[in-house]
Amino acid sequence: MLKIRIIGDDILRQTASEVDEFDEKLVRLGEEMIDIMHDSDGIGLAAPQVGISRRILVIDISPLEKEAEPMVFVNPVIIESMGECTLEEGCLSVPEVREDVTRPEEILLNYYTPTGEAKTEKYSGWMSRVLQHEIDHLDGILFVDYLSPIKKKLIAGRFSLT
Ligand code: CO
Repeated sequence: MLKIRIIGDDILRQTASEVDEFDEKLVRLGEEMIDIMHDSDGIGLAAPQVGISRRILVIDISPLEKEAEPMVFVNPVIIESMGECTLEEGCLSVPEVREDVTRPEEILLNYYTPTGEAKTEKYSGWMSRVLQHEIDHLDGILFVDYLSPIKKKLIAGRFSLT
């Protein structure tokens, strides 16, 4: 059974490796990650957060946008980003911390589906925001890394930030 890793766990700071086999196992991993995300009341989850250092993430923003459905992104790469916006973020790996983070507003994304279909898609709003947060996880970056030194200090009283 996969368990959510909390900040301080080494795997959250590693660069995840690319997925090169699009098989039944990958499809099942995506489904399992969606279940864990739903059970944890999250809107996004990256594989390193459940101890798997591979470039796969899942998103379901239906709590924020009713018509949304769960999606799986494999080997996602942001090829263009536009604008800027500030939104409040949280993370299943950094419990009970919510802070404003400024990121690009729109992104153009290349990714694969779990069955190996290549896609290019433009995202804005919450979808863009959650994608950027989750892609950071694949590179060992956590949203608290963007906070001011003072806010980091407050959080460091509760968690190891490295
Ligand atoms: Co997160």
